[in-house]
Amino acid sequence: MTTTPTGLSRRHFLHALGVTGGAGAVLGAMETLGVTPAASAHTMAFSAPRSGDFTLQGRSNGKRVVVLGAGVAGLAAAYELTKGGYRVYVLEASRRVGGRNWTARRGDISVESDGTRQRAQFDRGQYMNMGPARIPQHHTTIEYCRELGVELEVFANANASGYYYNQPAGNVSGPLASTPVRHRQAKADLFGYTSELLAKAVSAGSLDAELSASDKEQLIGYLRSFGAINTSNTYTGSSRAGYPEDAEPGGWFDTGTPNPPLDLSALLASGVGRNFSFEAGWDQAMLMFQPVGGMDAIPTALAEQLPLGVNYGAAVTRIENTSTGVTVSYSQNATTRRIDADYCICTIPPQVMTGIDSNFSAQVKADLAVPVGNNVGKVGQQYKRRFWETDDGIMGGITNTNMDIGTIWYPSSGYLGEKGVVVGSYNFGGNATAFGNLSPAERIERTVQRGSLIHGDAYRSELETGFTVAWHKMPLQKGGWVSWPSGTQGGPDTPYGRLTEPAGNVYFAGDHMSHVIAWQHGAFESARKSVTALHARALAS
Ligand code: PHE
Repeated sequence: MTTTPTGLSRRHFLHALGVTGGAGAVLGAMETLGVTPAASAHTMAFSAPRSGDFTLQGRSNGKRVVVLGAGVAGLAAAYELTKGGYRVYVLEASRRVGGRNWTARRGDISVESDGTRQRAQFDRGQYMNMGPARIPQHHTTIEYCRELGVELEVFANANASGYYYNQPAGNVSGPLASTPVRHRQAKADLFGYTSELLAKAVSAGSLDAELSASDKEQLIGYLRSFGAINTSNTYTGSSRAGYPEDAEPGGWFDTGTPNPPLDLSALLASGVGRNFSFEAGWDQAMLMFQPVGGMDAIPTALAEQLPLGVNYGAAVTRIENTSTGVTVSYSQNATTRRIDADYCICTIPPQVMTGIDSNFSAQVKADLAVPVGNNVGKVGQQYKRRFWETDDGIMGGITNTNMDIGTIWYPSSGYLGEKGVVVGSYNFGGNATAFGNLSPAERIERTVQRGSLIHGDAYRSELETGFTVAWHKMPLQKGGWVSWPSGTQGGPDTPYGRLTEPAGNVYFAGDHMSHVIAWQHGAFESARKSVTALHARALAS
């Protein structure tokens, strides 16, 4: 960060420089001040690709590689191979890059396998990440954002002000069922009560077999602070549980009165505690990140680095290993075309590959038929007023429910703005199947009905437009991600293990060819594995 020279407004400072230093000086100074059009549009100046922590050693001598699919794996493979001196041709069946990395914006059209058609009506500037939407700090995805200059902002995957909302169902019951409880309150009280119970058990000697006298003393000290329990090891409530709206601490004499502790039995019966562990996950713990302006900044930046670009509207119809390389046939504008290459990287999802002709061995074909596409859906709603911020005090983050909508995601950008897109439903499995079987209007209606139970009338009255995806019904994806049936994703004698080896001159890549399925990280790592193997072979040949 630089500061404006003292005593001069930015405009005066730039004007003075322009007089004495010419336009170049003005532009340079504007960059320093961070006020160039580029900086304000959140793009970064072009810089030639630098090597990240992954670099292919040795040049390829211009061998040709055809990459099938311009999703994250395909683009990453193409990008790395280009750096290694290959001539890379990318075939993409759709009209855009990204695959499941899709940021829906105004005018985007979606056609599902049964003909269900939608057109996104979001305002300009409003958008929704239909696929990947959060990036952990340790993922390779971050390395590519750094290398490509994709600007990141924090994605709020946890927010103390978000709600837990569970309806009576299964083993959820009691007075708190169907009552939205803030994350902070549920945690403060459950952590408090569990600390109390454990401290009392320790004091009563119930754990003497496990703990030395000094362990016990240390543990009780820890529990007092962890659970906000008092010196008699009792939880009597805590400001961590928050305050009723009319009793918050503030100016003058408003010392505030925290929420009284919720009843322990009611808390346990409501099931809220079952959600606590989610945000401790290896891949889900804060901080998490998202590209400024939409997740598709990643595939867009990758595609910009490809000298031969991406060949859109090219639907692969046949993959054929030949004695010298590989021939891929594809249909484009109702014409069948062919491309020859030395090697192929195929990132087409296996459950889509089963419908594509090839001269692969029967074993390869059988192995490709093993992974199963998962049903996954999202519903996004553009609201004309950010009521979750103004009425609920929720600035980003997630509300967890046990309803068929799954979770509700509040936008982690555009704070205090006029409008925003809430992801009102992100669901998997049977819930996603049921949603996918509805028309888009019915999906939105159901989502609004469920969310209104938490957010009241605003959830319906402020709604402007919605957009949905059922990934399992998208013809080019046929699933949000895949599952390998039990025992099939193992070593060399399993379907997955066999597919890690090339089928002739064809390498399979994608998050399904990794142990980090359903994350871009898996796609990047798999792309790196594939190009590394391909390159070693090309250099040796
Ligand atoms: N990466 C996706 C997400 O964070 C899918 C996923 C969910 C993967 C949960 C693993 C665990 O929503």
